Amino acid sequence: MTSPVDVAVTGGAGQIGYALLFRIAAGDLLGPDVPVRLRILEVPQAMQALEGVVMELQDAALPLLEDVETSDDAATAFSGASLALLVGARPRGPGMERGDLLAANGAIFTEQGRALQDAAGDDIRIVVTGNPANTNALIAASAAPDIPRERFTALTRLDHNRALAQLAARTGARVADIRRMTVWGNHSATQVPDLTHATVAGTPATELVERSWVRESFVPTVAQRGAAIIAARGSSSAASAASATIDHARDWLRGTPEGDWTSMSVVSTGAYGVPEGLVSSFPVTCADGAWSIVEGLELDADVAAQVRASVDELEAERAQVRELGLVG
Ligand code: NAI
Repeated sequence: MTSPVDVAVTGGAGQIGYALLFRIAAGDLLGPDVPVRLRILEVPQAMQALEGVVMELQDAALPLLEDVETSDDAATAFSGASLALLVGARPRGPGMERGDLLAANGAIFTEQGRALQDAAGDDIRIVVTGNPANTNALIAASAAPDIPRERFTALTRLDHNRALAQLAARTGARVADIRRMTVWGNHSATQVPDLTHATVAGTPATELVERSWVRESFVPTVAQRGAAIIAARGSSSAASAASATIDHARDWLRGTPEGDWTSMSVVSTGAYGVPEGLVSSFPVTCADGAWSIVEGLELDADVAAQVRASVDELEAERAQVRELGLVG
């Protein structure tokens, strides 16, 4: 057995938290030999509900779960953490404009960025799931200038996984047979699921599906999947979002499989014309706890136009939070 890893999770009393905490404690993120200490942050009014979740975590008697600590103070929750999964966020309330949402989350992610810088371990890696995830990650990174930029990422893995599921269903293949799927841009309706580099059991996906299906079904189904789940379930995707958060963090820490890549929103290095510093989704490979953008892919004209539109949206969000004084 190796030494335990401190994993901080925010929003632990929420829907995603309820699925996520049990998966982490069961070893799905760090692996079957690594004990975990959970450090859960919630807002004061949710601390009682969180106590119930902690009781259930105890009752699951999971052998890898060494300890659970809860707090409503960010610096206490992040103290010594090696991984922070920032799930808790302010949802859009009635009558709330997008600018109000950015401002409300800006305050949360500024405070949490500072607390991460002050209290987290030197090896801290951050995954932002709470929406608007890409811009929240940008805000947290701006509030923590001493933490290397590349340690801040945002979740587009759920979109990536949804794209895998749609292509598998269309081709009759197994998800495990698909490689090199990509999601570009923002985690929003402008996201760009791109199968032009994907293979299905070694055959290029573009030889197996029609362009019209990609344009009229694949892209809109993946981009609108969140809304379809709300319509069917009466509440938003939680177990699949938790599962994607696990996949993202696991691949980052433990590496992407040989011959494949994944999609992660990371701080742009300027690759593919995405302005430096924006947190945008790219195809990435991971090894030894570090990600690298897959360079040199040819972008099909349709995909390139969609990526520009999604990146324009990210730029507009950055301009809004700059105006609010939340990023430099
Ligand atoms: P939820 O509303 O059930 O839970 C959110 C929890 O966060 C609540 O318990 C709340 O008290 C807590 N919270 C709010 N502000 C906090 C703060 N400052 N510090 C600590 N905790 C705080 O929401 P759910 O379904 O769990 O979703 C969480 C977030 O994940 C939402 O922003 C949602 O939009 C986002 N999401 C992102 C996805 C992605 O692919 N990036 C997919 C699905 C959801």
